[in-house]
Order: sequence, then structure tokens, then C-alpha cells
Amino acid sequence: MEKLQVIGARKLRGNIKISGSKNSSLPILAATLLSNKKIEISNLPKVRDIKTMLLLLSSLGAKIKQNSQYNSITIENSKNIKTFASYNLVKTMRAGILVLGPLLARFGEAKVSLPGGCAIGARPVDIHLKALSKLGVKYKIIQGYVHAKAPRGLIGNKIRFSKISVGATENLVIAACLAKGETTLYNCAIEPEIKDLINFLKKMGCNIKFSGKRIIKIKGTQNLQNVKYKIMFDRIEAGTYMIASFLTGGNLKICNVNPKIINTEIKILKKIGAKIKIKQNEINVSGKNEIKNIKLKTSPYPGFPTDLQAQLMVLLCKSNGQSVINEKIFENRFMHASELNRMGAKIKVFGNKAIIQGNIIFKPAELMATDLRASVSLVLAALTAKGKSIINRIYHLDRGYENIEKKLRNVGANIKRIS
Ligand code: EPZ
Repeated sequence: MEKLQVIGARKLRGNIKISGSKNSSLPILAATLLSNKKIEISNLPKVRDIKTMLLLLSSLGAKIKQNSQYNSITIENSKNIKTFASYNLVKTMRAGILVLGPLLARFGEAKVSLPGGCAIGARPVDIHLKALSKLGVKYKIIQGYVHAKAPRGLIGNKIRFSKISVGATENLVIAACLAKGETTLYNCAIEPEIKDLINFLKKMGCNIKFSGKRIIKIKGTQNLQNVKYKIMFDRIEAGTYMIASFLTGGNLKICNVNPKIINTEIKILKKIGAKIKIKQNEINVSGKNEIKNIKLKTSPYPGFPTDLQAQLMVLLCKSNGQSVINEKIFENRFMHASELNRMGAKIKVFGNKAIIQGNIIFKPAELMATDLRASVSLVLAALTAKGKSIINRIYHLDRGYENIEKKLRNVGANIKRIS
């Protein structure tokens, strides 16, 4: 089992190039199942979830050529595509449920494993299924699999999501692209990754537009075309390294980003005291000033992202007072708090509220990662702790951060992978 060894208390200085977005790549890769044309996708991050999604697509019959230097692939889902997505691939990467929409749209049937829960929550897919049934899908859950059929093909409809869901919005936007007639989706998630997916689908020939607050209109189409597409940058990776710069009192230039997309994160970090300079596609974050405490809640875009909550919590442990974080998206996303407390943090959790004491000096420790973003928060804390920390189960980290130890070593961290 691989581990990370971090010898902390070093300021990070230099440039970090941000990789492509994991959470944009996953729905876009799933959406390729709609088409039998040639699709070229570049700027994919080299992370485990992308490998798993490519394995899932190959298991369905996709022909995939990878050009590893540039993180790009060519994919053709032209013939003998199977419509069965197995548990052993979907269980480790919940985004596997995103193949359900395209398979139903193109083939009128699908058998896809339920994703199952994870450390941060139950991760149900009831909103996906209820919305798909509004497009004419009939489904049954048998032994952990969704058996779904659309005997008369998908028929466009008006659908209001009962709750803002990134995955359900993505599944339905993709499915509606081949439905007969027009579909209007209300109460949609509008994360930048969804906009990236829509840009990809439109380049593929789909007819989609935003029409008002959280409303997306899709007109079904049959003639798709070859497409070349570059995935957007990973805004959560960017936010993670911005926090790392401020946290270590360093000075990092975060490159290959679009600052407009992470406006909320920039505003919050400035409010906490970070010095931030913005250029066209880079952000300079330096952490000379004192870290201020704050009361904050996570919310759907354009609010503060739940995927940066664990990382921000580490920063707030070093602030000049008591902070409060309300986790409004997932029911169990404070698993990192107990590990941080083992490093000397003073975090109390009451349901979905965490109270964080400031002025903490993190002490090195042997640590256990539980989920993707919790594991990177342990790396951040270890970067500021004087001495050697060991982080176990870093397969969680490898799901979503490309070359994290290399990127951090290049800006002065003493970090290495040990087995
Ligand atoms: C996406 O997950 C992201 N994953 C998550 O990032 C991110 O935290 C989340 O959106 C919120 O922004 C990918 O994009 C691959 P949701 P998703 O559907 O789509 C509940 C990471 O670290 N819900 O917006 O699964 C759900 O339980 C990952 O990169 C239902 O109740 O999130 C949650 O409480 C972690 N029923 C809330 O809605 C459903 O059918 C938001 O979930 C679907 C969701």
C-alpha cells in the first residue's frame, strides 16, 4: 500500500500548472457514448478516476486510443456497444452512473450498477432515476443494478429537479440530447463542469441552451459529428494549491486557470487575508498576512464548493480566532476533522456544522486518508507541521490529483511517495 511522507514547515514558492478537470472529464467521457463518430479529447488529468472511466467505456465496447504525453485520447463508440456497466468498475467511481443517460438515449436500454455510498455520504441516485422516468424510462432495481428500458425511445419533457444535483443534471442533459422533441430542465446545477459538458455536446452537434435561472433547454437531435475538445482546468485542484500557498506563508503562481470561474474562492481567500493578484490565466497567491477566521457554508455553484471545504478547514485552524463551517451538500463530509485533531487541531463537529479553533500549531503524525478531498487536507496540514508525517491509503488522493507530490516538490515541499 503506497503512502506519502511529508517533512513540513516549508514555504511553497514557484509555479504550479493546473491539470484538466476530473469532474468535467467524467461526464464528457460518459457523453461520448451518445455518438458513433470520432471524438478527440485533450487535457484529461492523469488520475485514477479517469482511468476507471476509460476502463468502463472499454468494457462497454468503446475503441480508445491514448496519447499519454498530452493526456489526450481518441474514442469511437461506433459498433457493438454493450449496455451493461458492472459493479466492480462503478463501485470505486460513482460517476459511473453517468453512462446510464447516454446508453438509454442511444440504445433504449441499460443495466448499470448502483454506485453505492462512500465516506462522505450515501450518494443516492433517486433524482437521476426519477427524472429519467419523466423521459419515458421504465426501471427496476434488482440486486444492486438499475435495469432500465425506454421501449419507445426517450421523449422530451419538462422536468424540475427536487434538489440541485450535479450528476443528475449531467445525466439528464446528456440523455435529452437524443430524446424526441424538447426537454426543459428546472432547478439545474450550473457548475462550470456542467457548462464544459454542454460546450462539448454543442460541438458534437447537440442543441442545448441555458434559458434563465438554473433552466436548461435541450432539443433532441440525431445528426452528431466528429469532435475535438479540450477539457477545462480543474478548479478544485487550483483552489487546493491557492490554499496551500496562503497556509505555508509562501508565494505560488497558479497557472492554466480562468480566474473568472473561481471568483467565489478568490473572494473568500481575500476575506481571510490572502494577497491575490490575478492575470489572464494565472493567479498569484501569497500568504504574508495573518489568516483571519470566518463563518462559511458550502453551497452549489456559484457558492463555496464542498470539494474545497476540507482544505479550507486546515487553513482556518491557523486563523486568529474561532471559525464555523456549515457543510450543506453532503451528510458526512467532516471525516478529516478527527485526523486533523490527531495533529493538534481543535475541531468540534455537530452534525453538519464544524467549529474550528484557530492559532493551532500542527504536529506531525501518521495519518489515514478517507476520501479524496479529506486526504489532500491531511497533506496540507502535514506541509505546515515541523517534522515527518506519513499519510496512508493515498489511493484516495490519486483519484483526483495528478502528480501531487511532483507538483509540490517543484515548489519546495519535502514530500515523497513510499511503499
Ligand atoms: C459531484 O458529485 C462531484 N463529483 C462531487 O465531487 C461534488 O462534491 C458534488 O458534485 C457536489 O458539487 C463529480 O462531479 C464526479 P450531487 P454528485 O448529485 O453529482 C444528493 C470530488 O471530490 N443527491 O450534486 O454525486 C447527494 O447525496 C467529488 O471530486 C441525492 O439525494 O453530487 C448530495 O447530498 C466528491 N439524490 C447532494 O444531492 C441524487 O439522485 C449533491 O449531490 C443525487 C444527489
